[in-house]
Amino acid sequence: MTNIRVGLAGLGVMGWRIAKNLRDAGLLIGVYNRTFDKALRFSREFGVEAFKTPSELARASDVIITMLSDDEAVRNVIAGSDGVLSGLRPGSLVIDMSTISPSVSIELANTIKSRGSEMVDAPVIGTSIAVERKEIVVLVGGSDEAFNRAREVLQYTAKTIVHVGPNGYGLYAKLINNALLGSYVVALAEVVQLGKAFGLNDSVILDVLTKLSSARSPTSELKVPKMLSGDYSVQFALKHMRKDLDIVNREASIRGVPIPMASLALQLYRIAERMGLSEEDFAAVLKVLVKQ
Ligand SMILES: NC(=O)c1ccc[n+]([C@@H]2O[C@H](COP(=O)([O-])OP(=O)(O)OC[C@H]3O[C@@H](n4cnc5c(N)ncnc54)[C@H](OP(=O)(O)O)[C@@H]3O)[C@@H](O)[C@H]2O)c1
Repeated sequence: MTNIRVGLAGLGVMGWRIAKNLRDAGLLIGVYNRTFDKALRFSREFGVEAFKTPSELARASDVIITMLSDDEAVRNVIAGSDGVLSGLRPGSLVIDMSTISPSVSIELANTIKSRGSEMVDAPVIGTSIAVERKEIVVLVGGSDEAFNRAREVLQYTAKTIVHVGPNGYGLYAKLINNALLGSYVVALAEVVQLGKAFGLNDSVILDVLTKLSSARSPTSELKVPKMLSGDYSVQFALKHMRKDLDIVNREASIRGVPIPMASLALQLYRIAERMGLSEEDFAAVLKVLVKQ
């Protein structure tokens, strides 16, 4: 047990569970969430303080974890009015676990450094279920010293913590994962539909794609049952996969790198969002391929 005081901002699907793990480890002193009711609910359930602003959370913490949707959310919570920056004490550490644009993360890390604290980007591979099992992988970008401090906290919610490189590199590593994941789930949706058109039983489709295929994976085990049952309750929201593929496309364009698979996948997730599927699990991209 350590006496590091950790505050967490962002009680979404992932943040809630990460906060719970850190509270169980005795590290969490308080939480902040934009929708305050959620912070109050967490506070009542787990007996830590609910802070009204990120600034107050930062003032009370040695380490501040942010687990938020996107660039705008992280900018608001860290650099907005009453944001983390305005309460940050020198020598603090910000661990941003959100998947955001590397350029935004590097810019915020530089600002935090100029105020005498440090930030690491620490995006996550793994779903909410993996957080509950403390089995997530965290890819960290930042200095050696900041990585070592971050690891001391993250060990209570992650199985594998990798120091990838300087600021931004955790995110670059995460982006190649999600470029693959986004394309792969579209491919799974395509062959689930093809299998049905061939007249294969659902149980055969399930067995081939999750047990027998040389291309089976933890993702096929998670997503094929959802596609076959039509249960799109959210593990990873479709809007977040679209957001990640948008970042991938921007970063690849800047460098002139062709990414035909991830570009096509992005278009399909965009269509899915226009169909009103943003809040469903990203496996719901299958609905784009269903004959109306
Ligand atoms: N879910 C997964 O399996 C998974 C896996 C790996 C990585 N990730 C990444 O982890 C991050 C969080 O994912 P999640 O699934 O936990 O998301 P989520 O359930 O949608 O939660 C998002 C959180 O961000 C807050 N937020 C959104 N916009 C905001 C804004 N403008 N200002 C302040 N706060 C804002 C939300 O507050 P409110 O409660 O007020 O809306 C909520 O606390 C994302 O970057 C995602 O890509 C997710």
